Amino acid sequence: MPFNINHLTPVLFGANMSLRTGMRLKGMGCKKVLFVYDQGIKKAGIPDKIVANCEALGIKTYFYEDVQADPPDYTVEECAEIGRKAKVDGVVAIGGGSSMDTAKVANLLQTNPPPLSQYLGFGGPPFKQPKKLILIPTTSGTGSEVTNMAVLTDSKTGNKGGPANNMLRATLSIVDPVLTIGMPPSITADTGMDAFCHAAEAVTSGQANPQSDLVGMDAIRLVCEYLPKAVKNGKDLEARTKMSFAAMNAGYAFNDAITHIGHSIGHALGAMYHIPHGNACALAIGEIMEYVASDTPDGIRRVATSMGLNIDGASTEKIGSMVCDAIRKLNKEIGLKTLKDHGLKREQLDEMAERSLAGPVMFSPKKVTKEAILGILTKAYDA
Ligand SMILES: [Fe+2]
Repeated sequence: MPFNINHLTPVLFGANMSLRTGMRLKGMGCKKVLFVYDQGIKKAGIPDKIVANCEALGIKTYFYEDVQADPPDYTVEECAEIGRKAKVDGVVAIGGGSSMDTAKVANLLQTNPPPLSQYLGFGGPPFKQPKKLILIPTTSGTGSEVTNMAVLTDSKTGNKGGPANNMLRATLSIVDPVLTIGMPPSITADTGMDAFCHAAEAVTSGQANPQSDLVGMDAIRLVCEYLPKAVKNGKDLEARTKMSFAAMNAGYAFNDAITHIGHSIGHALGAMYHIPHGNACALAIGEIMEYVASDTPDGIRRVATSMGLNIDGASTEKIGSMVCDAIRKLNKEIGLKTLKDHGLKREQLDEMAERSLAGPVMFSPKKVTKEAILGILTKAYDA
């Protein structure tokens, strides 16, 4: 089967590597740089050393500090405008997926004229080469640091979606696990399960390939082993490092294999109720694996073995239910919230199922209907 391998983002990985940001920017020829992050990251003081490092090397710095969760399109335009006015030659994101996705598209808008809306669908104008872009994740989940996609909220429709193009790729991604040390347990759990979903959906995707399987399976293995440890003790640098590596590899996996039902549900719940992305994707991922198992027997075997399950002699159906049980157990262990925990009612599931159909369901190995998603959500409601 022919396939694409597009995951080509260069990465600098390791403890304290973020302190090489200035040096790397200089190497790229950057003199004026726009930093992009949110108020939480600012209050935690995470950008301070990185910015000081750049300024000490003579780089002029500009700031957009108001990144929002599920970034609305107009906030990305605001961010881009600061960079255009200052005529920056580089953009640096410090944060989770929302900051990185805001920076990716704001960087695109440095050389491609607004409005942003013309670049979101198919058939828009071809992109001109954007400025230099460095992405520095402070969570271990999104994988956005190595993907060619960005997810934004369309303020007119309320739907989540966005462009996918190699012009959105980072010039360099700097993955520094030390920056994830301060993440509270609930964000560690949510973002860690986002990485799990990227990997599990990629491995069972209709577009999986042998290489996305390799990195996806290793990401599943690492999440199962190290996410509970990182949730329990945020200062465990080994667990943090393994989770950073897992999230990056899960990003590589889904960049080519794409996600499916988990992220369709995740985007709907994010848009409707602002449930944190990883939590929204993962609260039914066990039931989703059970649902698709029949149509991806090799995929579900790969997920099960990566999770460390003994599946000798088990039927595909049995393996699907074993994977579902193991994911429910993992979700409980790390304290992931269910739909019921979020105060949602069973009567609301129908609309959630309907809205989920707008997501990447076409990459599911098994045909997806509204009824199928409703069945998945009903089983997962308080599981
Ligand atoms: Fe995700």
